[in-house]
Amino acid sequence: MTYARIAGTGSYLPENVVTNHDLEKTMDTSDEWIRERTGIKRRHIAADDETTSSMGLEAARRAMEMAGVGADDIDLIVVGTATPDKIFPATACIIQRQLGVKGSPAFDVSAACSGFVYGLDLANRYIQTGGARTAVVIGSETLSRIVDWSDRGTAILFGDGAGAVVLQAADEPGILSSHIHADGQYETLLHVEQGVSVGFDVTKAGGAFVKMEGNAVFRRAVATFDLMARETVADLDGHLDDIDWFIPHQANMRIIKAAAKKLEMPMERVIATVDEHANTSGASIPLALDQVVRSGKVKRGDVLLFAAFGGGFTWGTAMVKF
Ligand code: UT7
Repeated sequence: MTYARIAGTGSYLPENVVTNHDLEKTMDTSDEWIRERTGIKRRHIAADDETTSSMGLEAARRAMEMAGVGADDIDLIVVGTATPDKIFPATACIIQRQLGVKGSPAFDVSAACSGFVYGLDLANRYIQTGGARTAVVIGSETLSRIVDWSDRGTAILFGDGAGAVVLQAADEPGILSSHIHADGQYETLLHVEQGVSVGFDVTKAGGAFVKMEGNAVFRRAVATFDLMARETVADLDGHLDDIDWFIPHQANMRIIKAAAKKLEMPMERVIATVDEHANTSGASIPLALDQVVRSGKVKRGDVLLFAAFGGGFTWGTAMVKF
């Protein structure tokens, strides 16, 4: 039996940091409101010359360096993103060229905030079935470009950044289990309502920006984390103590706390970076993972649970022996 294991992690954050106090100067909000409702203190925002591919490339390079693999070793590249550089080619193809990888499949996965977990699930299946031996899975987002900076209900929530892992074939797991799901009936609760085939109209109120019914999304997110907790409990035959670290999608500290409660997970074992990064959508889990791997908090052999939820709605989990 072939398994997939995480051989390296990497991440990238733009240098430019925007604090809640900075936002107070441009919109009717307050640091206190943002921290109380979301736990967010600051976010990184891409410079004009930074893109989803440039950030994803840097995160991938760092993950490949940690894994000790070169361009010739890579036989699959998957990018989870809701903010691709271009309509096509895929951001994964742009990164492939810049990495110097030749001939491997390279494609993007569109699953909003669940994009990385979707990509991980796919790459895991490729490796398990012999379709690839070394894969790079990236979550990268330039959300600042689709945020309406005049809408305080959404603008305060998002940030830019990228995270990546190198997955390699191994005799032992690795990825212990993964599940991905979607429920399209909630399309309009969290979406960018403009696009290629429905049309772009930048003069229309809102433009091509994120639109969200915050309260409804919040309620669905908490209910879905409950479903994910049940699936995890079933995977573990009830042995929740086997999980060393819970690394959820970083959307809102209140959602993270509610999810941890469902999993009966003390907050000491929950990784939360939402205060520093805000919601970086598909990048949030690999970004948080890389930070705790490099700080030494997460060690080889630890069991991690990733859980993501986002527009679609999409959601998914992966349990990983690091
Ligand atoms: O990645 C997955 C997708 N996203 C999420 O998971 C986000 C899910 N939703 C949320 O995190 C929360 O719904 C928000 C943080 C977006 C909003 O928190 P809330 O507790 O649901 O607030 P609310 O939308 O019910 O608004 C409460 C009040 C309103 O004022 P009134 O009508 O009570 O006078 C809003 O206008 O807060 C007001 N408000 C703000 N005030 C200051 C909304 N945004 C702001 C703001 N600053 N930035």
